[in-house]
Amino acid sequence: MTGTTTTAQSVSTLMAEIAAIGTDAARGGYSRPVYSPAELELREWFIAAARRRSLEIETDRNGIIWAWWNPAELPLTDAVVTGSHLDSVPGGGAFDGPLGVASALSAIDILAAQDLAPTRPLALAVFPEEEGSRYGLACLGSQLLTGAVTPERAAALVDADGTSFAELAARNGLDPRHLGRDDERLSRLGCFVELHVEQGRGLVDLDTPVAIGSSILGHGRWRLSFLGQGNHAGTTLMTDRRDPMLAAAATVLEVRRLGRTVDGARATVGKLDPVPGGSNVIASRVDVWLDVRHDDDAVVAALVTDIAAAARERAAAEGCSVTLTEASMSPRVDFDPVLRGRLSTILPDAPILSTGAGHDAGVLKEEIPTAMLFVRNPTGVSHSPEEYVEDPDADAGGHALATVLADLITQ
Ligand code: GLV
Ligand code: MN
Ligand code: MN
Ligand code: MN
Repeated sequence: MTGTTTTAQSVSTLMAEIAAIGTDAARGGYSRPVYSPAELELREWFIAAARRRSLEIETDRNGIIWAWWNPAELPLTDAVVTGSHLDSVPGGGAFDGPLGVASALSAIDILAAQDLAPTRPLALAVFPEEEGSRYGLACLGSQLLTGAVTPERAAALVDADGTSFAELAARNGLDPRHLGRDDERLSRLGCFVELHVEQGRGLVDLDTPVAIGSSILGHGRWRLSFLGQGNHAGTTLMTDRRDPMLAAAATVLEVRRLGRTVDGARATVGKLDPVPGGSNVIASRVDVWLDVRHDDDAVVAALVTDIAAAARERAAAEGCSVTLTEASMSPRVDFDPVLRGRLSTILPDAPILSTGAGHDAGVLKEEIPTAMLFVRNPTGVSHSPEEYVEDPDADAGGHALATVLADLITQ
């Protein structure tokens, strides 16, 4: 069976096509928030690339793009799915998300050139707001699809400019009344394999280009809102202040101290918003965003409890108060052992690695067997402009994915 393309387009040439989209001169790297002009341009790029491959494209009611490769015209059920996301963190790297999408397109070319007799359809999927950079809730697209996030909660989320997700969804052709769990869509899916740039040094240390994922740390995000007295920086005596910035700063240090007391924990404050945010204004409120991860969900919960207690103490010492709000919590994920075992049989040289990063494959695991492939990142750095993949490794990843998909769709 042959497709319309005769030569496979390599992952590296696909990545080169999008290298100029969404660059961020101020931060370095890429800023591609969901439904920003950059992310929309990437979605258009994906759709055009999928059309060139004669894939059947649909955008579902949660904004997930599906591109179907079904040369045998099989019923749309028990599909093998691959793909990733095109949104990025602010000032992120080129590969987190797009590498999985480019690899999926390249894999289609490789499959189309083979004489396969598929028994299962194949779908490429692009998930919106995987990073949660715009609305604070990671994997929003897949969490809406599975119902892990209710449509009411999603619709009410507001971005930094005050645009609600409902409004943004409507602006991008979705009906905000039809967001949410999609049983019909889910009933078509059989398994999901997501390829992703590795976000640590595992493959560098192992000196090999591709690994199979085993698990994801339990991870969550919380907002600590410190409330004090907004006031004038020049007229307010140092002894006469209730400055929430000081409570927030002391708490950031506590996050590091407490995080270090727990083996294997990661505790981070990467975002801090003073309100109103003027250099000659003592803030009235400071929001501190906390990210905590560990492979035991109970340890995550205990650590957050300890951090909240420390924050209350620090707030009281400054005459301030503090409230804690959970923005999201994703339990630890172990990828499907049967699917993972199959990947190990297909790619016998690939080592097994766990990750501390969240992925749509972690969310979909609640519905269907999921697995991941990681591709070596020589810098070991991610969510940063320094994230990197060498061209030969990107292409090795594309070939590994194609080998896995060829096996799964002819199973
Ligand atoms: C997303 O990449 C996350 O793990 O925060
Ligand atoms: Mn990612
Ligand atoms: Mn990411
Ligand atoms: Mn992620």
